[in-house]
Amino acid sequence: MSLASVSRMEAKLLLPTYERQPILFVGGRGVYLWDSVGKPYLDFLSGIGVNALGHNHPRIQAVIKRQAARLIHVSNLFFHEYQAELAQMLTEISGLDRAFFCNSGTEAWEGALKLARAFAQMSTKNGSKSKTRILAMENSFHGRTFGALATTGQPKYRAPFVPLVPGVTFVKFNDLDDLQRKFDSSVCAVCIETIQGEGGICPVNKEFLELASRLAKKSGALLLLDEIQCGLGRTGRHFAYQHYDVLPDVVTVAKPLACGLPLGAILTTERVASCIHPGMHGTTFGGGPLACAVAIEFLREEKKLLKQVRALGEYFHAALESLDKKHKAIQDVRGVGLMQAVEVDSPELAKAVARDLLQQGIIINRTHETVLRFLPPYVIQKKHVDGLVHALDAALHKNAEFGQKPKKEKAATRRSKGAHAHA
Ligand SMILES: Cc1ncc(COP(=O)(O)O)c(C=O)c1O
Repeated sequence: MSLASVSRMEAKLLLPTYERQPILFVGGRGVYLWDSVGKPYLDFLSGIGVNALGHNHPRIQAVIKRQAARLIHVSNLFFHEYQAELAQMLTEISGLDRAFFCNSGTEAWEGALKLARAFAQMSTKNGSKSKTRILAMENSFHGRTFGALATTGQPKYRAPFVPLVPGVTFVKFNDLDDLQRKFDSSVCAVCIETIQGEGGICPVNKEFLELASRLAKKSGALLLLDEIQCGLGRTGRHFAYQHYDVLPDVVTVAKPLACGLPLGAILTTERVASCIHPGMHGTTFGGGPLACAVAIEFLREEKKLLKQVRALGEYFHAALESLDKKHKAIQDVRGVGLMQAVEVDSPELAKAVARDLLQQGIIINRTHETVLRFLPPYVIQKKHVDGLVHALDAALHKNAEFGQKPKKEKAATRRSKGAHAHA
């Protein structure tokens, strides 16, 4: 089918949730995708952080072929060979004790919120009121289901669906005073993306994360970290919190875990897991043999790539900073490992640059209106970074008319130099 006929049919048949780019992808290999007319695209987005090993990875292909021919689904009423092994790998690298497997990021996050409420109920002494309040961060994103939306600190995502799950209070991200002010003994969970992704690649500050951990520990609340976008090697460590001196009570992961097959996971401690009993939570599809077998292979590869992600991340970040010196429209360069961003001074410029790069065959994305986001596969090489930076430089020059602010205003909008320097 052609792009024209697919888009015509979709316009008639699908819920209009997306404004897709007019490209029909038909194949991929490594860091490249090909469209229906044979044009190659360098992929600096990896399906929003999913295709961390690139496309058509030979080992992933082999596992899929082998496992698809043996067993795809059995439900969670029976054992299969891979959940235990995958849980062992994830608990080893996270420092946590137990796992629950599901299908997506938002489902993992829902489960994490349920754990927090169930743990609080279990911990409640006879006669006292259980902790139910959840502190979530402004500018955060946790997914599209009701609990995830209720904790997502961007009104545009929540507004059309109110009323949402009650009991959520938003805290200014990285504001120690605001956290201190809003935290009390009624709080059962503090929710943080270690690096806010949709919110524009904003890492949590060390002091803020440590304060959240300390407050939670002292009062018996849980620290919930959402690493659905920033976890599993994206920052050059298995988990982004491993750049800090904090261990969460619960962490959620998803995107790259099964290389494009739907799989998410909640990881938690023995102590928290003790609040769950059979029948309290579940999923039909989550953690099936096909997705888990692929995830085991992914984690074997991820381990080998961490050093390269760190080195390339530093190289990439430095190259973006050199563009910052040249372009007055650049307001900030943020990121860790292969989760990088350039914030420009107008949505129109961000849009024009992303469109320009796409025309040239480079896929990036714009998030939070003015932020150009880069989530390339972990298997990219220096030459790919050089290509992207060169094209970005040209696109910023070409579209300079869309920029707005004089250079001297830059300093005021900078947000995360400290966070990046430490992480
Ligand atoms: C930090 C974070 N949490 C949760 C989600 C939701 O994941 P999913 O789209 O798999 O439900 C996303 C998706 O972008 C995310 O970036």
